[in-house]
Amino acid sequence: MQVHAAPIQFDHFQSKKNDDCQARILAARKKLGKRLVILGHHYQHESVYRHADFSGDSLKLSKYCENLDAEFIVFLGVHFMAEVADILSRPEQVVILPDLAAGCSMADMANLAKVERSFRELNNVLNFDETITPVTYINSAADLKAFCGEHGGIVCTSTNAPKILDWSFKQREKVLFFPDQNLGRWSGYQMGIPLEQMPIWDPDQPQGGLTIEQIKNAKILLWKGHCAVHQMFRPQNIEQFKQVHPDGQVISHPEAPFDVCLNSDFVGSTEYILKTVSEAAPNTKWLVGTELNLVTRLAEQMQPQGKLVQFMSHVVCECSTMARIDPQHLAWVLENLVDGNIVNQITVPADEAVLAKLTLDRMLAAS
Ligand code: 13P
Ligand code: SF4
Repeated sequence: MQVHAAPIQFDHFQSKKNDDCQARILAARKKLGKRLVILGHHYQHESVYRHADFSGDSLKLSKYCENLDAEFIVFLGVHFMAEVADILSRPEQVVILPDLAAGCSMADMANLAKVERSFRELNNVLNFDETITPVTYINSAADLKAFCGEHGGIVCTSTNAPKILDWSFKQREKVLFFPDQNLGRWSGYQMGIPLEQMPIWDPDQPQGGLTIEQIKNAKILLWKGHCAVHQMFRPQNIEQFKQVHPDGQVISHPEAPFDVCLNSDFVGSTEYILKTVSEAAPNTKWLVGTELNLVTRLAEQMQPQGKLVQFMSHVVCECSTMARIDPQHLAWVLENLVDGNIVNQITVPADEAVLAKLTLDRMLAAS
């Protein structure tokens, strides 16, 4: 293997044409062979998604990470997903995120300082560790997963959230759910919890903006966070679709606002959305409330079966951070690997990783 003194800088790839990058990716893959595996989330653009050896939603991708043999795991997704891959893979395996700026704006709505302050404030009202199970959506930084590990909490994904809440209520009477209020509310509602027992916890307000009475009456405290992409969907989009297609069906991701989920025929993870529409009868019509790249790809795939797959919003709802992973970045990290250089490695500090793994293992066991 040829070894470069220094890694190739990304500047050399920035202006390269997509076609050139596609050829470079294929050539590098050939050289790396079984040493490399590429994982891709369903929101990735087709230009990189086509290179994924395995694709899936967050839960499915997490499970793959436990059983991979490759030396290098390149993650086509966002930062928290690559962190999970690092935590669940073997210590000697290297996880790479082609663009380190591919974060998740929803995950960034909670951070350790705010969660620890919330812990102290809630602890002033009731004994946190005895009454509250902290539940973090997998869309969160590793240190928040570690916080949950330290405080008897757990991780959930869009697939297993009601099951995980069920587990959580078996441990303690209340849940602090972060960072996505929409997933927390929809999952709690599915379990029959009244909306008034799921108040919003605003981490930027003293005592979350709640009275002592509200905290004591709450079953789930919903962190004031949301996904900017799914927040764009409106019940009016559904009404308009149903007017044109009275026989059409609506399917949404649980990160969508509550009234959108309530007016949808089906609600579930990205994997669930793909499976449900793919397995539906030919010539059926679908309005889909999730990220644009997934919907565009699904619409193309379903066309030969005469299925209409329509995106829920009139405005473009692409996840701009997912979109940072492009053929230029993928070609760049792979050519560096061929040269023996590792760039953009994701490494979760060992102490954090141990606690975060505890919560992920709890989740995998409970789901
Ligand atoms: P899934 O786990 O359903 O793929 O969702 C991840 C995500 O970030 C949705 O916005
Ligand atoms: Fe995060 Fe929303 Fe993008 Fe999913 S779609 S990765 S929740 S910003």
